[in-house]
Amino acid sequence: MNEANFIYSEAPQREPQRQEYFIEKCSEILSLKTSETGRELKAYVGTYGCQMNARDSEKLKGMLLKMGYAEAENEDNADFIIYNTCCVRENAENKVYGNLGLLKHLKKENKQLKIALCGCMMQQKHVVETIKTKYPYVDLVFGTHNLYKLPELLYSCLKDEKSVFEIFEEHGEIVENLPSVRNFKFKASVNIMFGCDNFCSYCIVPYVRGRERSRKPEDIIAEVKALAADGVKEVTLLGQNVNSYGKGLPEKVTFAELLGMVNDVEGIERIRFMTSHPKDLSDELIFAMRDLDKVCCHIHLPFQAGNDKILKDMNRHYTKEGYIALTEKLKKYVPYVAITTDIMVGFPGEYDVDDTIDIIKRVRFSGAFTFIYSKREGTPAAKREDMPDPKLVKANFNRVLETLNPIIYEINTEKVGKTYKVLAEGLSGHDKNLMTGRLEDNTLIHFKGNKNAIGNIVNVKVTECKTFYLYGEQEDL
Ligand code: SAH
Ligand code: SF4
Ligand code: F3S
Repeated sequence: MNEANFIYSEAPQREPQRQEYFIEKCSEILSLKTSETGRELKAYVGTYGCQMNARDSEKLKGMLLKMGYAEAENEDNADFIIYNTCCVRENAENKVYGNLGLLKHLKKENKQLKIALCGCMMQQKHVVETIKTKYPYVDLVFGTHNLYKLPELLYSCLKDEKSVFEIFEEHGEIVENLPSVRNFKFKASVNIMFGCDNFCSYCIVPYVRGRERSRKPEDIIAEVKALAADGVKEVTLLGQNVNSYGKGLPEKVTFAELLGMVNDVEGIERIRFMTSHPKDLSDELIFAMRDLDKVCCHIHLPFQAGNDKILKDMNRHYTKEGYIALTEKLKKYVPYVAITTDIMVGFPGEYDVDDTIDIIKRVRFSGAFTFIYSKREGTPAAKREDMPDPKLVKANFNRVLETLNPIIYEINTEKVGKTYKVLAEGLSGHDKNLMTGRLEDNTLIHFKGNKNAIGNIVNVKVTECKTFYLYGEQEDL
């Protein structure tokens, strides 16, 4: 048995102990390389896509730092580059291919450099084929179901100096307690579930993230308690459809009940969650939002499109009037609730956006992510041939924005002169003399304030409104 084979058989079989073992092994190799080169080795993690990927990248970074890599600020001075990819729309994939192309020359300059790709895009066979043929300088590829195996796969890549491709078609058990770092000190995201079972007809996520599975409430609460002990004030509970949390767990627990448990964790001051699917938004959840003091008065409730025929073809399981009624119930019971949404324009067969515009006007959203439909190979909608003309789609998209933006501006204007509680998150990226934070309803604000306030919830008076953010001044300075 050669050394590497011995190591694979000696390694613990259970997770995450097995990966901890390989972290040690990678760290031995990295120390050797450090003494050879006389410098510290650095790793860069590039993240594409949604908050799920951002959270996954914190785990990737946690494992890499534990192996002994220092963090590289960008690709140029890194010895290990990993892109955690997204494939929800074509332009997300194009960004990855574009940036990957730029890495080729780095490989010539730095013989140590290893390039890795992981995440949603890699779960598609045609992507892996493209990587193999067009980007042969990629050393390591893995998917969403074996993200936790980074140490073992990287070990094999470093030790044997060979490229490693490992993609699982299906998910295994949820692996808890992986090392992780946090991108922010005072706020943190916590996965409560993985995958998606909804199969909206346009969406690739269920194919690349696998079936919906929930983490046990005790694991979630233990993580939230540890975060609180570490100074975190705000947690965001993450899932593709948090409202269906709990399905398949041995004990019966709903999302509203989970919110109650998180609300009881001492030290946590704010609780957010995303994303909610309208079809599963229960009265119990609405009442929980009303009654639990730490749960923020904000809900992200994507509606995608307004027309009932289009909603049916999208497999969304609600109607335009059903959606509007739901938002009315939210407004009735949850004081000051801010509703944000996702809107898609140009789905096959969608030639006008009148119903979409009607929903925007009647619900009055505080914010929205707007997208042009992008055909995803392998989804049912990809087979449709009744595509609207791209020029018409662009015009419809502009109509949506022209309706949406003045409403968002009006809602924010009403806040001028009033005082709100803001979690001061840090210095503003725009202007280092200002701080930045969010209102309970998730509106972004840049404000004059005392730097000691960073990490605390402070009173801020709104002085000016831009469409998508506010300016203000901290009170009781
Ligand atoms: N699970 C979440 C959304 C995840 S994807 C939910 O259902 O609300 C985020 C958004 O990307 C979706 O809400 C949708 O608006 C958009 N999206 C998904 N697939 C898309 C596609 N094929 N083309 C364009 N936008 C898409
Ligand atoms: Fe995609 Fe629909 Fe699942 Fe959201 S709920 S991830 S849009 S399939
Ligand atoms: Fe998220 Fe993109 Fe994957 S939106 S779940 S990173 S396809």
